[in-house]
Formats: sequence, structure tokens, C-alpha cells
Amino acid sequence: MLLHLLLMANVGWLVLVAGQNEVPTVPCYGPDCLVTELTTEITTPTTTESTTTPTTTPLPAGIRRTLVVIYKATTVGQDMFIQGGVNKETIRPSCASDVNAATSDCSISINATSLGTGSHWAKYDAWRVGDTKLDWFGAQPGQGYYQTFGAFGTPLAWTTNEPGDGYQQLNTWGPNHWMVDLQMNCDETANGWFDVKAYLTQFGNGFEPDIQQSSCTGSGADVLPPYSSNKNHVARCGYINRFNFGSGGCEITEFQ
Ligand SMILES: *[C@@H]1O[C@H](CO)[C@@H](O)[C@H](O)[C@H]1NC(C)=O
Repeated sequence: MLLHLLLMANVGWLVLVAGQNEVPTVPCYGPDCLVTELTTEITTPTTTESTTTPTTTPLPAGIRRTLVVIYKATTVGQDMFIQGGVNKETIRPSCASDVNAATSDCSISINATSLGTGSHWAKYDAWRVGDTKLDWFGAQPGQGYYQTFGAFGTPLAWTTNEPGDGYQQLNTWGPNHWMVDLQMNCDETANGWFDVKAYLTQFGNGFEPDIQQSSCTGSGADVLPPYSSNKNHVARCGYINRFNFGSGGCEITEFQ
């Protein structure tokens, strides 16, 4: 937790320094003065939004609804999961040697909630039981089974925007959008962001290839993640995050 706070403080400091570097040190005044304009632009949000400590970007606080959607045309019998949490390459390397979800500093507390009723959702409903963390370790002790089949992480369900099996109203895109609807503790993320890696059954070693994420589209892409990953998708806590399996495209939007 201390490390987390230090890290957040550090990110904020870097942003401030970068901002100040763009401002000439000699003050100037008058209608064409860049200093005056920049200063106004930077300080306006802090004066209107809050009476407490100024921050550069608002942090998502507490437990927020967070959707992860991964597009992949799959075949019947394949199932998709995600592993992830706090980035362990650059953000929290100490997690690389962790061994379980319950104690790892990179695990993020979650509950996966219902996406619908009926047999289409039976696997998702079975596997989300006892899955209390988004983590890097696959099934948690005590996580649910579907018949005799265990989970490989946090389960996703196949969804479509068309009437029939798998219809889900949050899907505004089309068939083959694998989805998980999470309650996530944003306080445990890296400044509001977390890594996601898809795992697909009956697919190579299961994991999607490493990806380099491009800049995202959507109303939630107004700020950049505080880090980049050369392996995983980077998702935003409290938003609808839509990715492509094995490639860098992404869309981050606000809940309506
Ligand atoms: C998950 O649900 C349990 C039981 O209702 C609750 O105690 C916990 O705070 C929830 N966690 C999150 C991240 O929503």
C-alpha cells in the first residue's frame, strides 16, 4: 500500500514537472503572453472541481463498475478468461515472484456480476463464483467449476447485440464480443489502470500473443494510461474497455 501511494505521488509529480517545463521561467504579461494562457488553463479545473489538494487527473475512487470486452471470433467449445491486475513489468516488479492471488500486491479485488439469465450464461455463472481477484495466477482456490471444468482466470461470456442466445444490452458492436461485468476496487489499481491478458481454451498455450496497445478511441481515452505495456492490454477502472484478442486496438468509453 505504501509503495502504491508513493507511486501515485510520483506520477503526479512527473506530470507537474513536465507541465512546468513547457512554461517559460520569465513571467510576461499582456494579451499575447503564453504564460498567462497556460497558467489559466492548468489551474482552472482545480479551482472549479475541488477545494482540497490540486490534482492533475481525477482518480477513480473505491469500487466501480468496470467492463472488459474482448473481440474474438471463436468456435463452439472454446472459452475465454482474463488474467491481469497491476502491471508487473514496470509498475510493480516486486509482484513477479508472487505465487498466489490472495497475497499478491498486483491482485485487484473484484466481483463478476450477472450478464443474463438462462443456459447461455451457465459457464460464466459457474466460474465467477469465488473469483474474488483479477490476478496473474489462473483459478483461485475455491473458485467455481462448470461440470468438471475449472477456470483459467476470471471468466468472460460470449455476447452479441443480436436477439437470441448471448444477447447483452451493453454490447453495441456485434457477435463475438466476450464480456465480463466487474465490480472492481479502483483503489488497488495503478492510478486507475490495470493490465489484461486473455486466455482462450483450445488455443495454443492459451494466452493471446503479446501486444503493443495503440492509442484508444472513445470518451474514456481522454487521458493516457500512466504507463505502457509491451505485453498486455491496459484497461481503465470504472469504464467500458473493449479490446481485440491478440492485437492493440482499443476503445474506452464511459458508462451511460
Ligand atoms: C464483493 O462482494 C463481497 C460480498 O458481497 C463484498 O464483501 C466485497 O466488498 C465485494 N468486492 C468488490 C470489489 O466489489
